[in-house]
Amino acid sequence: MITVTSLPELRGGVAGARDSGKSIAFVATMGALHAGHLALVARAKTEADFVVVSIFVNPLQFAANEDLARYPRVPEKDAALLDGAGADLVYRPDEGTFYAKGFSTAVEVSGVTEGGEGEVRPGHFRGVATVVAKLFLQVTPDVTVFGRKDLQQVAVVRRMIQDLDFPIRLVVADTVREQDGLALSSRNAYLSPEERRQAAALPRALFAARELAAHGAGDPNLLSRVTRDALEDAGFEVDYVQIVDPETMRPLERLSPGATIAAAVRVGRTRLIDNVPLLAGPEGG
Ligand code: PAJ
Repeated sequence: MITVTSLPELRGGVAGARDSGKSIAFVATMGALHAGHLALVARAKTEADFVVVSIFVNPLQFAANEDLARYPRVPEKDAALLDGAGADLVYRPDEGTFYAKGFSTAVEVSGVTEGGEGEVRPGHFRGVATVVAKLFLQVTPDVTVFGRKDLQQVAVVRRMIQDLDFPIRLVVADTVREQDGLALSSRNAYLSPEERRQAAALPRALFAARELAAHGAGDPNLLSRVTRDALEDAGFEVDYVQIVDPETMRPLERLSPGATIAAAVRVGRTRLIDNVPLLAGPEGG
């Protein structure tokens, strides 16, 4: 595995792989890697011959009041994990030079960015779409793997790939969870032991909604209300609970294939998001 920090080195590494006939997969991350990220790398290895992973804490997607400064940065540990997971090239662009002085371009995806995270974190998806577009153009992969954990992010990337004709196939990987159901997240490191125990109530409430749906509860308004109540009873501040079509991110009036319940809650200073499909989707997910 090689680690590079500049664009010319990245291009050289990718060109070398291409010259030997290899296809390229790309996984974008902000580091502080856990088994969820490593599952994306494992999936990427089954989708292409040469796996590029980026590690970049993207300032554009953090609002002024968010956790950019305290976001965990552990480059050596990340490199060891990626080596073990079989990544071929790690791209860790320099935080000071990735956005050159005077950088003024943004990618704005509308529609799928309305509601949910887009509403609670204005400008967040503009930052995500901008960095992902820039990384796609730098890495030029054949395939990219994103985690379903960030449901709306997947919808944004899918829409952007379609709208801007990126010649890149999007693969969506399932959410990796702890034993008690909590979705792995770099931000779980912020939780105190007590908050960590409480956090398991988030997936529990979402899976309970799925059980209700499986037993015939078909009214999204009722399901979201029951779920919101359960989350509040568990002591969370609830940012939103919504049942959406995962492609359009539009709230559903009736459950349809792929319908997914998504929620964001706050516990102490930490924000947790998660989502669970209620009904199997068109592709079985
Ligand atoms: P980050 O939060 O580091 O996540 C990187 C990738 O890992 C995303 O595709 C995310 O959905 C996936 N992921 C996170 N937790 C997961 C879990 N428990 N199971 C499976 N996949 C998981 O998402 C970002 O970074 C950034 O917004 C980025 C796309 C890198 C742009 O800056």
